[in-house]
Amino acid sequence: MSKRMKICINTGGGDAPGLNAVIEAVTMAAYNRQWEVYGIKSGYTGLLNTDEIIRLTPEKVDGIASVGGTILGTTNKGNPFSMPVCNALGECELRDVSDKVMENFKRLRFDALVAVGGDGSLEIAHRFAEKGMPVVGVPKTIDNDMGGTVITFGFDTAVSIATEAIDRLHSTAKSHDRIMVVEVMGRNAGFIALNSGISGNADVILIPEIPFDIEKVCDKLMENELNGRKYAIVVVAEGAIPKGGDVVIKGEAEGGRQHVVLGGIADYVAKEISKRTGKDSRSMVLGHLQRGGSPTTFDRLLSLRFGAAAVRAIEAGKFDHMVALKSPDIALVPLEEALGIQKRVDVNGDTVLTARDIGICFGD
Ligand code: F6P
Repeated sequence: MSKRMKICINTGGGDAPGLNAVIEAVTMAAYNRQWEVYGIKSGYTGLLNTDEIIRLTPEKVDGIASVGGTILGTTNKGNPFSMPVCNALGECELRDVSDKVMENFKRLRFDALVAVGGDGSLEIAHRFAEKGMPVVGVPKTIDNDMGGTVITFGFDTAVSIATEAIDRLHSTAKSHDRIMVVEVMGRNAGFIALNSGISGNADVILIPEIPFDIEKVCDKLMENELNGRKYAIVVVAEGAIPKGGDVVIKGEAEGGRQHVVLGGIADYVAKEISKRTGKDSRSMVLGHLQRGGSPTTFDRLLSLRFGAAAVRAIEAGKFDHMVALKSPDIALVPLEEALGIQKRVDVNGDTVLTARDIGICFGD
């Protein structure tokens, strides 16, 4: 009989639909091996203040696979290798408190950690693996920009929500002969914009991988007009870049790996369109709606498969790896290898070609 393990799990970075499904699968797969499972609260922060570590049981996780968010909480500010430590006067400095995390992990006699997160959280996981912590990663992000895996969970849900929103915009755009510009998430990757834009029958899709010329966008809209289509839908990724320009930002990020908060490009594009074409334009930002609520069936299943595969990886002693979808199978990829890849939309790939073939303009 294999060793009875005592394992723990945390969720870090921005939340993504499917996190709870991973927690459920890890708990159940461990329970069915007669292992103990513990939930670490708020990313790695829960391994610094260990009071809130919770025992995960089948009762605790029953039915959570269909629920959005994470029962463990998450943060994109809790990097133990660079943690803001503040004194009574509110003066803060960044300190490396990773040894404290290692100490607590050993004191609590954990055999392994399942770290669920995006590139930021998995980079931290890799650094802990280098310090000797047995870690298995589970990649998550709605942006789908993690290397080493065909897809991350959360992405399908975000695309479904964005597509539904775009579908709804058609009727109001048509009623008013308006240009509706909708901004979707994705950070510096255009996957959400591309997939939802094609599926939602957009006229124009603007993504970070293809810098756009606003004149070309307006030409496309005027061509539509001449052909009798007086309204249009423009889907713009939050990280889209005008040719010769830069990303539009809302402000500085308070921590984590993202240095800036992206946002505002839809407003810029809508104003430019109105100015240049005289057409009535409106912008809207879908924002965190894309991360909320129940995961789609695809994301639920992928998350459950990832969670169970992470437990099998622990059983096999495959640490410093992450589970990944290598369709149709779940594989294990070294964290270092996955973190070395910045996944972006392939501008010569089939999905972009499909969009071009059906007449969608990228503003290039
Ligand atoms: O990485 C996921 C993501 O939702 C991005 O698409 C977006 O830019 C960012 O997180 C938003 O982060 P926050 O929740 O901190 O506003």
